[in-house]
Amino acid sequence: MPHDFMPGLAGVPAAKSAVSDVDGGRGVLEYRGIGIEELCAKSSFLETAWLLLFGGLPTRSDFDRFARDVTRHRRIKYRIVELIKCLPDQGHPMDALQAAVAALGMFYPGRNVADADNNYWSAVRLIAKLPTIVAAYARLRRGDDCLPPRDDLGFADNFLYMLTGQAPDDVLSRTLDACLILHAEHTMNASTFAGIVTASTLADPYTVVASSIGALKGPLHGGANEEVVQMLRDIGEPGNARPYVAGLLAEKRKLMGFGHRVYKVKDPRATVLQGLCEQVFRKCGASPLYEVAVEVERISTELLAGKPIYPNVDFYSGILYDKMGIEADCFTPVFAMARVAGWLAHWFEQLRENKLYRPDQIYEGEHNRPYVPLSQR
Ligand code: ACO
Repeated sequence: MPHDFMPGLAGVPAAKSAVSDVDGGRGVLEYRGIGIEELCAKSSFLETAWLLLFGGLPTRSDFDRFARDVTRHRRIKYRIVELIKCLPDQGHPMDALQAAVAALGMFYPGRNVADADNNYWSAVRLIAKLPTIVAAYARLRRGDDCLPPRDDLGFADNFLYMLTGQAPDDVLSRTLDACLILHAEHTMNASTFAGIVTASTLADPYTVVASSIGALKGPLHGGANEEVVQMLRDIGEPGNARPYVAGLLAEKRKLMGFGHRVYKVKDPRATVLQGLCEQVFRKCGASPLYEVAVEVERISTELLAGKPIYPNVDFYSGILYDKMGIEADCFTPVFAMARVAGWLAHWFEQLRENKLYRPDQIYEGEHNRPYVPLSQR
């Protein structure tokens, strides 16, 4: 049956899902029916991860067990550390993360994805170990030893500790936890789709997540946050924002951290992140990058008037991560540490009513061409 071709599958449903919903016209994002603003104000990343994975808020005992399970599985095997040590220092941390996550599947095969218990432990391991891998690569490439996780620290505090070696500031670790909530899930985006395509082959969950990490890396998706901070540094000060933005738009180039396939208003995650910036910079000192960002948003809104192009989740997140001592090329790995919860929730859904993804194409090539021998070409 012929279908209209929709480039980028824009507007084409690829799955039925109850994990999250976006209203792009009103700027609303809900996880399992709960608004992200409320989750950021009242929940924690681990509680939100449970909500996404299992469909409702956990009871106290469910939550305690899940938090304990994740905490106990944060360590990575020394051979994974050895693998990370062998990777080039100049490589991208997303590539290191993808390689290490794919390798995890060799240590925890979990090939029987019909086994719910096995799948629970795979989800726990992936959520628990991604931060340890990200921190290990960040430290090893600059010549520092990697630090083992500390069981007395919460999810976000422990990550900042493993990364910097410092006991984290309470404001910053609570802000990071909120950032992880905001990045944990976002309906059928490119990386989630990549993951469920792989999941539909009944591949193991480590391969599923490695596929998603690969898709998240690109600058049109999660990789934009790294480029935003570079752009803000290039602009340097608020007064340079107008000529910079005007020049970029005149050259028909894209402003990183702006625009979204679904949102036609400001991304609600950008609004929450901007509020977090205000809180953090009030308590921990101003950030010149933030002042530039606010001016870039103001000028862009003016120059792009009439086009539905507003800040997305990647616009303000990097500024906060920079304040936490996270290097720019680790912003997308931090995004992945959060989004793994959403990827796994969609993996669970895919397994429940699995059908192998095998879309069609519109063939535009030739037929019946003769083979010309090499000697005659
Ligand atoms: N800056 C300037 N113009 C833009 C931008 C932008 N950031 N985004 C879209 N536009 C313009 C395009 O030039 C195009 O204009 P035209 O109709 O005059 O040719 C129009 O808006 C439509 O743009 P498309 O790229 O076709 O729209 P699409 O829905 O494919 O874009 C995307 C979505 C890829 C996110 C785009 O907005 C973009 O490239 N943004 C910059 C990268 C970015 O921030 N990515 C992170 C997205 S959030 C996330 O994935 C976590």
